[in-house]
Amino acid sequence: MSGRTKLAIIGCGGHAGFHAQQVHANPVLLEVVALCDIKRENLERFHREKFGADPKIRLYDSMDELLRHPPDGLQAVTIVTPHTTHFELCMAALEHGLDVLCEKPMVTRSDHARKLAKKIRQTGRHFQIAFQAPFSAEYAYIREVISRGELGELQTVTAFSCQGWRNGTRGKWRQDPKLSGGGQMYDTGAHLFNGIAWLIDRPAKEVFCWSDNKGTPVDINAAITIRWEGNVLGSVTISGNTPGWQEGIWVAGDKGRVGTGIHGGRLEHFDAQKNQIKYPLVTQPHYTPLQNFALCLQGKAEPRCGVRYGLLHSWLMDALYKSAAEKRPVKLTRPPLDD
Ligand SMILES: NC(=O)c1ccc[n+]([C@@H]2O[C@H](COP(=O)([O-])OP(=O)(O)OC[C@H]3O[C@@H](n4cnc5c(N)ncnc54)[C@H](O)[C@@H]3O)[C@@H](O)[C@H]2O)c1
Repeated sequence: MSGRTKLAIIGCGGHAGFHAQQVHANPVLLEVVALCDIKRENLERFHREKFGADPKIRLYDSMDELLRHPPDGLQAVTIVTPHTTHFELCMAALEHGLDVLCEKPMVTRSDHARKLAKKIRQTGRHFQIAFQAPFSAEYAYIREVISRGELGELQTVTAFSCQGWRNGTRGKWRQDPKLSGGGQMYDTGAHLFNGIAWLIDRPAKEVFCWSDNKGTPVDINAAITIRWEGNVLGSVTISGNTPGWQEGIWVAGDKGRVGTGIHGGRLEHFDAQKNQIKYPLVTQPHYTPLQNFALCLQGKAEPRCGVRYGLLHSWLMDALYKSAAEKRPVKLTRPPLDD
């Protein structure tokens, strides 16, 4: 396929602004033909502020309406709505033959992840999840370093995030479990878990999770230990009630270690063979999610974040919440990665 991908943006709130920005940055690849939001006010404001109220763009108050009366040539949707809405919106879009880029987290239940993976296989449509990290040059660099064996046998993963999330999301859907599916573990935490899954690329075998809601309906803080396949051991701390922003992921092997941000962007590589810390200039392809998605549709790039990472993430999340609720370690079944 060549030419511009005709795209609809589903959900016209805060983060959809980043999707609009990616469209404007890639005018040769992408053309927005429709916007959709269940809140008219958000829909019209977004249309005005991000697309100068372009009359060629059609506005829809629901995904149902969009799928019943799609604009000519609609090929793809990017879904930027609250977490628990992702499953039905993705399923509906795929059933109507559309390619899908879905914001993180892919879904909030592992049974939904399994059904979605099956639907993607059945329809043969292109599907990716819009976590930034896997699209970054730094993550591509680290994955190559790991696959060349330069870190040796993987030993441990250490990751953390700190953010004033509790007060910043008070009264918003992010603290309503019906729309969020969970708290900070599902929000910024999702970037941590996806970053790790993408780098070490294997299922978790067992987890233990302490979480604390700090007086809200959802998890704010969490301290987690994880054992992955190959006996890679990890600890993840998610701190959602502390001002400012800090985060990072370190992957250590018996021949070196790397450290990066949860969206990439920075990189430190300790090469134990040379006893040297490197800050390499990465040359791997770097994309924004929507740019890579559109390039994949034209056969000009390899997908970075397919349903595999949604399955790994979903299986992990179900186990973490079970462990936190039951206050005991939980063993995981293997997600259906090869079905
Ligand atoms: N990748 C990132 O770094 C990043 C950053 C922020 C948010 N996000 C993700 O983007 C998504 C949206 O977050 P946000 O911050 O933009 O939220 P938001 O509340 O600002 O916007 C969500 C919009 O979706 C609309 N909406 C809700 N249900 C809908 C439905 N069924 N159909 C159509 N529209 C619907 C709402 O009316 C609202 O306008 C979430 O999945 C979030 O995790 C990702």
